[in-house]
Amino acid sequence: MFDINKIRSQFPILQREIYNKSLVYLDNGATVQKPQRVIDALGHYYRHFNANVHRGVHTLSNEATQAMEHSRHEFQRFINAKNSHEIIFTRGTTESINLVANSFTQFLQKGDEVIISHMEHHSNIVPWQMLCERTGAVLRVIDIDQRGVLDLEHFESLLSEKTKMVALVHISNTLGTINPVKTIIDKAHQYGAAVLIDGAQAVVHSKVDVQDLDCDFYAFSLHKMYGPTGVGILYGKEEWLNKIPAYQGGGEMIKEVSFEKTTYADLPFKFEAGTPNVAGNIAAAEAVEFIKSIGIENIASYEKELLDYATDKLLAIDDVKIIGTAPEKAAVISFVVDGVHPFDIGSILDKYGVAVRTGHHCTQPLMTFFKVPGTVRASLAVYNTKEEVDILINALQKTLRMLR
Ligand code: ALA
Repeated sequence: MFDINKIRSQFPILQREIYNKSLVYLDNGATVQKPQRVIDALGHYYRHFNANVHRGVHTLSNEATQAMEHSRHEFQRFINAKNSHEIIFTRGTTESINLVANSFTQFLQKGDEVIISHMEHHSNIVPWQMLCERTGAVLRVIDIDQRGVLDLEHFESLLSEKTKMVALVHISNTLGTINPVKTIIDKAHQYGAAVLIDGAQAVVHSKVDVQDLDCDFYAFSLHKMYGPTGVGILYGKEEWLNKIPAYQGGGEMIKEVSFEKTTYADLPFKFEAGTPNVAGNIAAAEAVEFIKSIGIENIASYEKELLDYATDKLLAIDDVKIIGTAPEKAAVISFVVDGVHPFDIGSILDKYGVAVRTGHHCTQPLMTFFKVPGTVRASLAVYNTKEEVDILINALQKTLRMLR
């Protein structure tokens, strides 16, 4: 049974007041709030078994290692990876993408091509640009239309034997567009290209099965899925993770070190140099448990209901234009209002207790495409309600009366 009150009661921060108003938190695309079980897991680790992992013979170290490896298995099951050693702990989606982009240097030659799309977050643009600068490869960009939908014909026209990597966002953080990643992966594979999917916004809104998708790499962050900050996951197919070189050198990622030569540890440790975010990696398992306790399909259908409700209400306000109207859309609504700067709207909404993000959302090329300086973005999570959408709409109407 989907019980919104029970869900909300698990998030202590939802009790907060901002300027004497109940907090209405609609900035979930930036980061999601944390349920008590995740907060407790962080404290529990520090209180009871804080120790470094994979190193000690003592009890605390063994307990910490077991808990972190348990978490790795949770993620393996969560995204249906074949092996737990295909799950690499990183600092976040950005580091996961940088790991792959750096490790790909030796696979690219001058004139090879990397394909991304026009709706990528900067973190799925800049690492590939840097890779192209290092190797002389060329960056190609898939067009989108005015709804924020990928032009698949254009994508196919870009594919050739020169394509070595296709890096694509699963759900756009700015538009909410859900991309047909399975089709894209399949087409890219026909040309022998590897595919990385940026799943930062997707894992929390929809079921992800990496074996079914058949992607080579899938990157996401825990803080956007009810988990702690500073924890990311990189899923990579075993054959790719064995093939690409290590990203960072240091302790824990080695088999043997001498001044003449170092050999590297097996997966997944080859990619986990240094002491990891032990507390975060352990508490991350509780975020998965939280999602499982509701069911990702239930989350998706509830959020879709909220999205439709909010979209209708927003469109009923004069001069509001929604940026991102793809038929397949997740619970993210970006909008602009004629003659009013998004920053001003966001600042005044805050005085009503409503938290939204304003600006370019780390997608400047998209802002250029839609010819807007930025947008106001309301991004929804499972603990949001229609009443909160009403508060947003009411506050927005008052804000616009003030500004126009
Ligand atoms: N990528 C995050 C967002 O969309 C920070 O807000």
